[in-house]
Amino acid sequence: MKYLVTGGAGNIACQFSQRLPRDAEVLLTDIAKAPFSTIGDNATYQRLNVTQRAEIDEMVGRERPDVILHFASLLSGQSEADRNTAWEVNMQGAFNTFEAALKFGVDRVVFLSSIASFGSPLPDPVPEDCEQWPRGFYGFTKAAVERLGFYYKETLGLDFRSIRLPIVISPYPSPGAASSYASNVFIAAVRDGGYTLQVRESANPAIIYIEDCLKAIDLLTHASAAGLSRASYNLFSCAPTAREIVTEIQKRVPEVEIDFALDEQVADLIDSWPRQIDDQAARSDWNWCPEFGLPEIADEFLLRLTQMKEGEVQ
Ligand SMILES: NC(=O)c1ccc[n+]([C@@H]2O[C@H](COP(=O)([O-])OP(=O)(O)OC[C@H]3O[C@@H](n4cnc5c(N)ncnc54)[C@H](O)[C@@H]3O)[C@@H](O)[C@H]2O)c1
Repeated sequence: MKYLVTGGAGNIACQFSQRLPRDAEVLLTDIAKAPFSTIGDNATYQRLNVTQRAEIDEMVGRERPDVILHFASLLSGQSEADRNTAWEVNMQGAFNTFEAALKFGVDRVVFLSSIASFGSPLPDPVPEDCEQWPRGFYGFTKAAVERLGFYYKETLGLDFRSIRLPIVISPYPSPGAASSYASNVFIAAVRDGGYTLQVRESANPAIIYIEDCLKAIDLLTHASAAGLSRASYNLFSCAPTAREIVTEIQKRVPEVEIDFALDEQVADLIDSWPRQIDDQAARSDWNWCPEFGLPEIADEFLLRLTQMKEGEVQ
């Protein structure tokens, strides 16, 4: 199998490239000069700007991947701050990717959507077919690209599949994500001994540990098309409050000082995201089952961060 990954310098792509089979060919592509963290042994890297239709056509035509993992995106904070670029990358970039996939007969396109594609008020749990009326520009682009992918799948026959990821807890959170606090509070606890959270203590958007996130992407990417009952899947792991996260960290790192200083814009955006989510379709269609709840995330992530050299933690 040959995989072409857009957004391949980023947080999830670099870590996912380490998980792909050793005999796979993995081409990571991104607008960035170089990957932001370690990539898989069998992965190579080339620059590609997904907003440029000719560039992506040329790359896909030359490389002929079996699968495109479309991860390139501006994240929530960046998208709110720069709607023009978010439109170009998130909307035009997806259109260009789908067109190139269709033109060159790519077997499968996997897209990472987000729980930010929903908007409040939301039922608890959020059902698979919940209406998507996001409050943020990023969430709007994710909901729109889910619909665009559905069109390519149902009308043009492209094997498009996507998951709505919760906030990913990872050592390399994108600085452009409003949700990066959920990773940074762990990272700062190990590196700096303290952190100030800008969300409400009661904020409890759904989160997922990076290992579970990578497992979910792997399962969906390699699931048989015949077993898929939908184009876009909900995903759920756990939804602790910010206060509960702090408590779990302080149980393990008692000397850490964590306080709250509200940024209402960030806090309101985070509070508009789902908490409990119905992910039965992922569980039954491709055997999704999370392994990490909050205590397991705290154990594993704090240990990993402690073992990492300081320079590797962004
Ligand atoms: N991390 C999370 O919590 C989370 C949650 C839900 C969904 N997602 C989605 O998962 C995907 C990967 O997220 P991530 O955490 O790795 O974010 P990231 O910011 O680390 O990676 C995104 C990458 O896209 C690249 N990019 C931006 N503009 C580009 C362009 N014009 N052409 C090519 N590449 C471009 C960036 O350079 C970056 O490397 C994104 O689509 C994101 O929306 C992430």
